[in-house]
Amino acid sequence: MYIVANWKLNPASLSDAKTLLSGTKEVAKKAKGVTAIVCPPSLFISPLRELYRKSTTFFIGAQNMYAEDTGAFTGEISIPMLKSVSVNHVIIGHSERRGMGETDEDVAKKVSRAVNAGFTVILCIGEWERDEQGSYLGVVEQQIKTALSKVTYTGLSQVLLAYEPVWAIGKGSGSALDAHGVHQMVLYIRKVLKDMYKKNSVLSTPVLYGGSVDAENAEALMREGEVSGLLVGGKSLSVKSFGDILLAASKVTTS
Ligand code: PGA
Repeated sequence: MYIVANWKLNPASLSDAKTLLSGTKEVAKKAKGVTAIVCPPSLFISPLRELYRKSTTFFIGAQNMYAEDTGAFTGEISIPMLKSVSVNHVIIGHSERRGMGETDEDVAKKVSRAVNAGFTVILCIGEWERDEQGSYLGVVEQQIKTALSKVTYTGLSQVLLAYEPVWAIGKGSGSALDAHGVHQMVLYIRKVLKDMYKKNSVLSTPVLYGGSVDAENAEALMREGEVSGLLVGGKSLSVKSFGDILLAASKVTTS
């Protein structure tokens, strides 16, 4: 089970970030069978990365990266920069980046560069709104097909797909898509992958859910939604709430 923490533009100071990371790391140790990937703001990546030894179940990741390695791109961070501080996990295509103008084509370029550089990519997809005619399914299909257009079958093994319906993000308890709805989307996403790659083995590509995940809904989302993990925003900012989600994931994995 993969549990990803997306801290977004939080917390306000490095010292708070260190406290949050060390608490998270402690509780993650107790969550057997769970891989935790914590994505702080880029400024904090390096000092936080230095706080702990390499582990196979706990990683620091980036919330975004730029597709070019170097050049006149003010404010961006690159793959070589991340690699130089031993970071090999990155979220790409988060709806908040897409909302700032990132296109499906930009996402595709980033995903292929990151995969080729050996990164594990948490690729975010998800519709902005739902309509009764079901055209949101076409939106999700298009996002997947474009984002993965340059990723080979082998490269796909480095991708975790995070389905995050944008209308369910940051809304708080009770606003997540229900477990049944999540399960339907997991099946749909796998079908799209199968259409693309024409191999049954792609059906085991991890699909995560994100959007108002909390300690109350986490277990049902994982069990009945049959996801391979969760992408957590707001509730990753407290050791208690994120810890409860990690422990729920452990319970689901080990029972
Ligand atoms: P949320 O955010 O858990 O606060 O809804 C999830 C995300 O944006 O990745």
